Amino acid sequence: MKDEKMIVTPWEVKGEIDYDKLIKDFGLSLIDEKLYKKLGKHVGNNLFLRRKIFFAHRDLEFIFKEFEKGNKFYLYNGRGPSGHTHLGHLITFLFAKQLQDAFDVKYLIQLTDDEKFLFKDDLNLEDVDKFTYENTLDLIALDMNPEKTKIISNLKYAKTMYRQALRVAKKLTFSTAKAVFGFTNDTNVGSIFFTSMQSVPAFIESVKRGKKIPCLIPHAIDQDPHFRVARDVLPKLGYYKPASIQCKFLPGLGKGGKMSASEPDTAIFTIDTPKDIERKVMNAFTGGRDTVEEQRKLGGEPEICPVYQYYYFLFEKNDEELKKRYEKCKRGKVLCGDCKKELAKRIKKFLAEHQKKREKAKEVIDKFLLVD
Ligand code: TRP
Repeated sequence: MKDEKMIVTPWEVKGEIDYDKLIKDFGLSLIDEKLYKKLGKHVGNNLFLRRKIFFAHRDLEFIFKEFEKGNKFYLYNGRGPSGHTHLGHLITFLFAKQLQDAFDVKYLIQLTDDEKFLFKDDLNLEDVDKFTYENTLDLIALDMNPEKTKIISNLKYAKTMYRQALRVAKKLTFSTAKAVFGFTNDTNVGSIFFTSMQSVPAFIESVKRGKKIPCLIPHAIDQDPHFRVARDVLPKLGYYKPASIQCKFLPGLGKGGKMSASEPDTAIFTIDTPKDIERKVMNAFTGGRDTVEEQRKLGGEPEICPVYQYYYFLFEKNDEELKKRYEKCKRGKVLCGDCKKELAKRIKKFLAEHQKKREKAKEVIDKFLLVD
């Protein structure tokens, strides 16, 4: 795994992720203690912040400065509906919801059905329509408030989106798109245009309200190239540069934290049955030793263990308990089988709840979707 080259683009994430390098390559800023404190003043003792799962940003100071002047920002992020939602996908939405509650602001979520159709050879438009619907249910199931939260499908809101995307596209050259995204002569022309669509929700509120409104985008770090482009173009159209806050990836359950679409057992999907969850967790790669004796003698390696990461990101909210779990593992006092069983139990409980809310979401979907 170590030898596998790191690749992080909006469409491909591979290899061992070196977050320090990404910060440098992308030109992001680390969230320093002062900013964590400032966030904490509003958001309280937030798990994603205190565990530094959200760790980098662009222009957060600007967001605070405007907020303190009474110029409230709005939140924006999204998802590409190329399949069912898995646990890793939930993180940016959970966090955005927490920010929304803390600051009492509007929140836009974009489902880039157009993108997934263009970038995935094996997906047709009917497939993406289906996943757009399924993913929308997952978003609403996170207790979203329809008064303040709106969901955009690029295809269903095409009239509004296309008009604004054109304004962006006119200011974006092919050479910039090539340099930022690595497009080649074989890239289809829709893909080259696409980033214009992803930038629209970053200024659409300013268009609608007829004045400049700051926008904050909580997203996984791979999406940053889109917003680099948006930050370049939007001021040319008379809008603020979007600010952003970036998170790390929840690893998959495969060796080295690998998650792969071709191996569906390396990710846990929100629609998985208790049996699926049990099987996937019990088969996960761990930082454990080959035999029980070795485990007891040498201890495990939580640093490289995806099971531990699932506790860290989502399933152990208590810091003391998390630390205990880490140390017990290190000292060989807990066996991987037991650690996995407990995790499977917690995931099953979480998803049973989520699936109930998902069913209920079907009745209110129209309150969330922007359609034109
Ligand atoms: N392109 C993203 C994906 O494939 C989806 C997306 C659209 C998004 N708008 C966004 C992600 C804003 C983060 C922030 O998942």
